[in-house]
Amino acid sequence: MRRKLAAGNWKMNGNAALLAEAKALSTAHPNPSVDVLLCPPATLLGQLGDNTGANIATGGQDCHAQENGAHTGDIAATMLRDAGASYVILGHSERRQDHGESDKDVHAKAQAATNAGLCAVICLGESLQEREGGKTLSIIANQLAGSIPDGLTSDNLVVAYEPIWAIGTGMVPSLEQIREVHDFIRTYLQKRFGVGAGNGMRILYGGSVKPSNATEIFAVSNVDGALVGGACLKSADFSPIISALEQA
Ligand code: PGA
Repeated sequence: MRRKLAAGNWKMNGNAALLAEAKALSTAHPNPSVDVLLCPPATLLGQLGDNTGANIATGGQDCHAQENGAHTGDIAATMLRDAGASYVILGHSERRQDHGESDKDVHAKAQAATNAGLCAVICLGESLQEREGGKTLSIIANQLAGSIPDGLTSDNLVVAYEPIWAIGTGMVPSLEQIREVHDFIRTYLQKRFGVGAGNGMRILYGGSVKPSNATEIFAVSNVDGALVGGACLKSADFSPIISALEQA
């Protein structure tokens, strides 16, 4: 059985008020039956850990492919781990767009992350133009093949399907569209890593998940949780999403 995962991505947001929201979330879910993950800006990893407990895992939003060196402004996977992180989001579409990250870059970062003992949450998804051009599955296939290193396991790989056009827009694919892509990713993982490992790997949906649509999305086959942006910033929004996942 795959343990479900509710992951929140703070993106470039974070202050004392958000830390208080995290504390409230931690208090509301002292013993969750799903994994709960918050990924704050790296500067807040330590403080976030101080405001929550073992009930909430923490993660980075990116890491460098190298372990150290002359890379101004970057953060190594080992540094995230030393700051208490157990996960790192990689290849988010905002990184791919804002920083020109390629599948090859994501692959190298995922290797570094898993070498450091982190679980890599590898994001992929199509643009609206690609969706409308009927290219979704071929884009996903290329991103899966290009971004995921060999030898990963259900302990250190989570795949997040995030259609770019659904992120922060309020637009959500139909449940059938989500099912089609998640089933496609499951089949890919089974073929590449073997049926046992492929069945154990979690596949998250991300893009405008909110309390009002979480239950129906979590009922879709091969949806093992969510990667949540906007709705993870308030405990009052993220908490019902966690509860919906617990009940799925
Ligand atoms: P959103 O972001 O929930 O605000 O759409 C999702 C994401 O970027 O992971």
